[in-house]
Amino acid sequence: MIRLATTTDASAVGTLIIETIQGTTKSGSAWVSEQIDSPTGVVLVDEELQQIRGFIVGQIVIDEAEIHDLGVAETSRRNGIGSKLIKAFEAHVIHQGAVTCVLEVRASNNAAREAYAKAGYTVIAQRDRYYSDGEHALLMRHDFKGSS
Ligand SMILES: CC(C)(COP(=O)(O)OP(=O)(O)OC[C@H]1O[C@@H](n2cnc3c(N)ncnc32)[C@H](O)[C@@H]1OP(=O)(O)O)[C@@H](O)C(=O)NCCC(=O)NCCS
Repeated sequence: MIRLATTTDASAVGTLIIETIQGTTKSGSAWVSEQIDSPTGVVLVDEELQQIRGFIVGQIVIDEAEIHDLGVAETSRRNGIGSKLIKAFEAHVIHQGAVTCVLEVRASNNAAREAYAKAGYTVIAQRDRYYSDGEHALLMRHDFKGSS
């Protein structure tokens, strides 16, 4: 079941971020709490039998949304959870007035690139040596108008 996160989820989501996001510099639960409390933050989780299996963290500012992080526990991958989290995030931000959504993804992250492409995202730019280890980021965007 996908639902909005509450502050009581911050610890579990923070742990999952550290487990799933390569080279993250975010301080787990503290950062998640900030996003949940922020008026522009959007944090959704996928929960099954009181276990958080996946999360998506993003924001909406006026009519543009951004996905900061998306992750699914390793043992739960390839079951459509990532796709459902992207769709639920989009439905939430569209309801709040977003017309487009952007994100950055590591150029080597084929799983995430494929998942976003399947959800309608296209690469619009490359940010050279964007990550602290020197890897390039790809900027992807999904314009909601006219897309299903
Ligand atoms: C990216 C991620 C969230 C995908 O989650 P998931 O629940 O496994 O994704 P889904 O099952 O919804 O897969 C959707 C599509 O993505 C693509 N995909 C997912 N994993 C893939 C892989 N390992 N290799 C290639 N394509 C993959 C496929 O097109 C898939 O559709 P299909 O299963 O019908 O072929 C997950 O792999 C993950 O947590 N990775 C580590 C964290 C990360 O890199 N996050 C993104 C950076 S913000």
